[in-house]
Amino acid sequence: MKIIRILLLSVFIALTSISGASTPLIINTSHRTVTSLNGHWNYIIDQYENGYYNYRYQPMDRDPGYENNHGAYFNDYVQQKKTELIEYNFSNSPTLRVPGSWNAQEEELFWYEGTIWYRKRFDYSKKDENNRVFLYFGAINYEAHIYLNGHKVGRHVGGFTPFNFEITDLLKEKENRLVVKVDNKRKKEAVPTLNTDWFNYGGITRDVKLVETSPTFIQDYHLQLGKGSMNEVSGFIQLNGDDLQQEISIEIPELKIETTVNTNKTGKAPVNFELKNATLWSPDNPKLYDVYLTLNDNCLIDKIGFRNIETNGSDILLNGEKVFLRGISIHEENGTRGDRACNAEDARMILGRAKELNCNFVRLAHYPHNEYMIKTAEEMGIMVWSEIPVYWTIDWNNPETYKNASQQLEDIINRDKNRANVIIWSVANETPVSDARTKFLTSLIDKARSMDKVRFISAALEKHTISRNPYVVSIEDPFAQYVDVLSFNQYIGWYDGLPDLCNQTTWTIKFEKPVIISEFGGGALFGFHADKNTRWSEEFQEDLYVQNLKMLEKIPKLSGMTPWILSDFRSPRRMLPYIQDGWNRKGVFSENGEKKKAFYVLKKYYTKKEQEF
Ligand code: GCU
Repeated sequence: MKIIRILLLSVFIALTSISGASTPLIINTSHRTVTSLNGHWNYIIDQYENGYYNYRYQPMDRDPGYENNHGAYFNDYVQQKKTELIEYNFSNSPTLRVPGSWNAQEEELFWYEGTIWYRKRFDYSKKDENNRVFLYFGAINYEAHIYLNGHKVGRHVGGFTPFNFEITDLLKEKENRLVVKVDNKRKKEAVPTLNTDWFNYGGITRDVKLVETSPTFIQDYHLQLGKGSMNEVSGFIQLNGDDLQQEISIEIPELKIETTVNTNKTGKAPVNFELKNATLWSPDNPKLYDVYLTLNDNCLIDKIGFRNIETNGSDILLNGEKVFLRGISIHEENGTRGDRACNAEDARMILGRAKELNCNFVRLAHYPHNEYMIKTAEEMGIMVWSEIPVYWTIDWNNPETYKNASQQLEDIINRDKNRANVIIWSVANETPVSDARTKFLTSLIDKARSMDKVRFISAALEKHTISRNPYVVSIEDPFAQYVDVLSFNQYIGWYDGLPDLCNQTTWTIKFEKPVIISEFGGGALFGFHADKNTRWSEEFQEDLYVQNLKMLEKIPKLSGMTPWILSDFRSPRRMLPYIQDGWNRKGVFSENGEKKKAFYVLKKYYTKKEQEF
């Protein structure tokens, strides 16, 4: 049997090493049998990718440590003879903390964009010899090649989405050698493309773990109130393994729900059951139920909230009640550490600031954030706008670029589809109008709707002035007709005129759908005080918020907003000495969590809004 499995596996490795395709995503890893590989990994800087390409620049695509690559050893090879040529060796190389970007850990790597090789050695004993083991990455920015014990396991592209590979038959009890090539170079055809207003943190920026499963296990599932329903849960359960036709039990003890489903020969079963006397999830009562999914003697637990979201004309309804989305935009960054946010503590710190603003909603810009952010927001009663980095001038006519964007959208919907607080999937930000772009985005909408019939689809569009009168603003984007919620960014008072221009501006929105202002704001250096006409002072930003909120209040279909932005964040586009110094200063908090005067304006507005609803 084992021989057959090894033969099959070698075919599988050959295939994946060509396609590099990861195995279907295993969701809810935090409630599975996992072993963390977080910690210190050895690393080697490889700016010319000497470990991947030979001197004729032909790809060798193998763990460089298992072969002499013209004298380039990327391994823990111990020199046998003094005549041997060894130029690289992990064992006496420095280490980087995983998760975490290299930019934030080594001064010499702060601006580095390129390849770094990581190596982790670990022992592993399976709990049951028939079990399977998967290697799971929360995310790697941006492109990763993965090798285990000299075998190519796979390749992944996309800096903010999870992926996993089966490594069952590659694993050894002792001295496993995991080597990862990470390349964060920006590329025209990538998603995002070359130009962004955020820092290009490179590295293994999220958790790495081994997931051990039974031979056939529950890999994926979706349980949520169906479209337009307050008491009918629908969804599916998907098995992974050889024995796919089985009975699975679904229990929610607190609601006295027990049901069973039988999977078909593809391992999939539809789920439908009635939800009686349930407390629906809401920001005021973020109720989560313990849900037990049992296959044979393996029980998988998830904490799931049930809620209904709908639009009704220009209103957003949560559980049938009109709601105003008191939001804020957020980048995934711990400003004090100066690195990507990557754990539960970071999530609580960031979302705690949103709560101080009296938010019930956050726009997690401009890419999928780590899973801790979504789950912590769900526990705190904060709704979420989730977004893929189809940002600005994407390579719209490139099929590979579309495949990449579509895969990132699929992966984030897969990971977060059971989270009650995620209410919007956003497919773009400030993309220039063209036929190719609108086709690209409508295809992404079709993809999202095919996976999720309930959540709203949106994108942060740009405003347009009606030529005759520059003070009348509208949304003329052809893509606006396809979204459920009409969202757009506007910077009146910062990029467009000064704050008093708000008083002269009126908005005409011709679409009968909810409107969210997905960005407005302006910069201020915390602690810089002057009169309100002095750019970069806290007083200027404060007045900008006062004027904008007065103007936006007049938009009849306004159902929410996510001002730009919660906290100052790193950006290579913001280099004004003594003011920006590499930081975008539009936060209402400084990067260290100090509140600017605009914070109090927004908080006061949200407190008033909360009393209105
Ligand atoms: C844009 C963009 C943001 C950017 C912001 C700014 O609208 O969406 O990513 O940071 O404006 O200029 O600060």
